[in-house]
Amino acid sequence: MKRYPLEIPDEYTTALSERLAFDLRPQSLVTRIGKAYIAENAEIVSRISEGLTKNRGEFIASSYLKDEKIRRAYSLYYTTTNFLKVIVPLRELSALNFFDPNSTVNILDLGTGTGAAVWGALSYLDSIGATNSKIMLTDTHQENLREAEIFSHHFLKQFSTIKTGLAYDKFDLRKPHEISEKIKNAGPYHLLTMMNVLNELDESKDELLLNSLMSLLDDDGAILMIEPATRDQSRRLLRFRDMAVKNKATVYSPCTRQSNCPALTKEDDWCHTENAWVRPPFIKAIDDITGTLRLSLKYSYLILRKDGITLRSALSQKPLYRAVSERFDEKGRGRAILCGENGRYEHIINKRDLSDSNKDFGEIQRYDVASLLGEEAREHDIRLPKEAEFKIVLPILGAR
Ligand SMILES: C[S@@+](CC[C@H](N)C(=O)[O-])C[C@H]1O[C@@H](n2cnc3c(N)ncnc32)[C@H](O)[C@@H]1O
Repeated sequence: MKRYPLEIPDEYTTALSERLAFDLRPQSLVTRIGKAYIAENAEIVSRISEGLTKNRGEFIASSYLKDEKIRRAYSLYYTTTNFLKVIVPLRELSALNFFDPNSTVNILDLGTGTGAAVWGALSYLDSIGATNSKIMLTDTHQENLREAEIFSHHFLKQFSTIKTGLAYDKFDLRKPHEISEKIKNAGPYHLLTMMNVLNELDESKDELLLNSLMSLLDDDGAILMIEPATRDQSRRLLRFRDMAVKNKATVYSPCTRQSNCPALTKEDDWCHTENAWVRPPFIKAIDDITGTLRLSLKYSYLILRKDGITLRSALSQKPLYRAVSERFDEKGRGRAILCGENGRYEHIINKRDLSDSNKDFGEIQRYDVASLLGEEAREHDIRLPKEAEFKIVLPILGAR
């Protein structure tokens, strides 16, 4: 099965080079000035990374993105590594013709920061031939919105087809019901995006937040939330998921089940995807100094809808499962954890049982969606016999 890694589009790198007034092409990274620039930013990236992991509470409370140098290093490294994280979830939404390329796509982004979700979504819309979009960018900090606005001048001019109207406003998600008239009047929105923000918010207000977001959505719209792939942050999102389902939202994706998330049953489980990507040379140069190796893009995501439509219903009527682990190939067998309507279980196939009807199991990768019939439930796992039917129906990165 051919799988295509995600790639940062040239339009983005060109716009980022312009914004940072530094040529990000490989030949410039090896010059004396280039090396000094990368070293300076790598040091700040290390500080951000440490802040977001070790001294999280204090670092987040310091509103780190207000600092101009931090914001620039964040744009250079984190906006780039976050940019592509919206692409696969948006492709999953498109499996059901979610975007009508002939009408204006109306988006609200929450906790915009330097705008990664917005630029990624815009690039995706352009790639599917959408002609018009309207995007409202919101944050608590005016500095972030200003930064996004400056970047937009460099980025938007790269697109010749899609026409985009951007608007900006403050929206404090700690007070989710205090929505400005400007934000309300620009709605309802077809897509809400919220990337790397939930984990900065107090969980006790999640229900209020959900109600408020749902009120801004059009009837067949969706909320896309993306969070880091770490255990704590992923579980934070999974708890939001369970709360949302209790409050009548539908999980469109990644889950193929609506009932409670089985990853929350055990303290040490969580759930995330992983996308192969072509790591840009300037990210590699920073990684080489900081020691962080961003060889793939890992993140947790959740798509909620209020019209009851699910990815599962779009794909197949057969029982569907999401692979929530990598595939482990061992001597006489292969195994992977699959999550579906019946729960989250390790599935095993003995190599001698591989057959025409189940051979896809030998290719399964984390976050592929597959249909399965004829499995055999055992005490601690599920076995796929020779006659089991296993088919990958939505391969991750199987399509551009
Ligand atoms: C880690 S950054 C993520 C930025 C961007 N979405 C991304 O993924 O690159 C978190 C963002 O959430 C914003 N934020 C934090 N608390 C917020 C709140 N209560 N209301 C709105 N935005 C908030 C911060 O200002 C910051 O821009």
